[in-house]
Amino acid sequence: MTAPIINGKQVSEEIRGSLRGEVERLAKQGFKPGLAVVLVGEDPASQVYVRNKEKACQDLGYYSEVHRLPASTSQEDLLALVDKLNRQENIHGILVQLPLPGHIDEKSVIDAIAVEKDVDGFHPVNVGNLVIGDDSLLPCTPAGVIELIKRTGIEMAGKHAVVIGRSNIVGKPVSLLLQREHATVTMCHSKTANMKEITKQADILVVAIGRANFVDASYVKPGAVVIDVGMNRLDNGKLAGDVDFESVKEVSGPITPVPGGVGPMTITMLMQNTLLAAKRLN
Ligand code: GUN
Repeated sequence: MTAPIINGKQVSEEIRGSLRGEVERLAKQGFKPGLAVVLVGEDPASQVYVRNKEKACQDLGYYSEVHRLPASTSQEDLLALVDKLNRQENIHGILVQLPLPGHIDEKSVIDAIAVEKDVDGFHPVNVGNLVIGDDSLLPCTPAGVIELIKRTGIEMAGKHAVVIGRSNIVGKPVSLLLQREHATVTMCHSKTANMKEITKQADILVVAIGRANFVDASYVKPGAVVIDVGMNRLDNGKLAGDVDFESVKEVSGPITPVPGGVGPMTITMLMQNTLLAAKRLN
């Protein structure tokens, strides 16, 4: 039997609907959440992401500023802009699009963003709060993954969740959030031996390894929830996830497609974080 497809686009629209309602209520009190996005250079994928963030702000009624800076921008000038945005009262969320050009130290830039405006959840203080379990701004893609699992109605507590990938942006934070939901978590990565033996035990499998169609049906326990965080551009220009969707959906439980699964959730969670940051700052 073919598995149910988790429709990230639809879930994302539902969440955006409630955000829109709340922003309309706040607007009547003369208040607007504000997001600043900073893009340095002309990376084509980054340009698309930034445009989509700008559109989401317009669509939901947020105030937004997009700062498009040349690739030659110095670190000093970028830090000066971040400092200005940190102090700007109509800005509640700051996102510096990554990757940055090679001459700029990403860590210094992330560290410079005010903790309470770090809507990416990348600042070390927010990462530390995530580890401790304190209330923090959660990184957007991992938060989107958890939201999609919740919407399947499948309980995470007591389940064995396996995460493939250990990046700072997805693998590590997702594993912490799954633990917070009381799952028993195992992490696998490119150096893991006998990976299939581990993934075949997973009730919930989250894949973020960055290799097209890496996980096929032989990795998956029948009925397992499969969340594919991969976004790989193939030579033919098509987008592929880290999961071989066609084969895996024949054995898995609920599964996310690519595109239309985790992808649409990331910007929606960014919008949710910006509203949360705005309410906390106001
Ligand atoms: N580049 C790719 N994904 C992201 C993200 O989630 N945040 C930022 N700041 N840059 C990115």
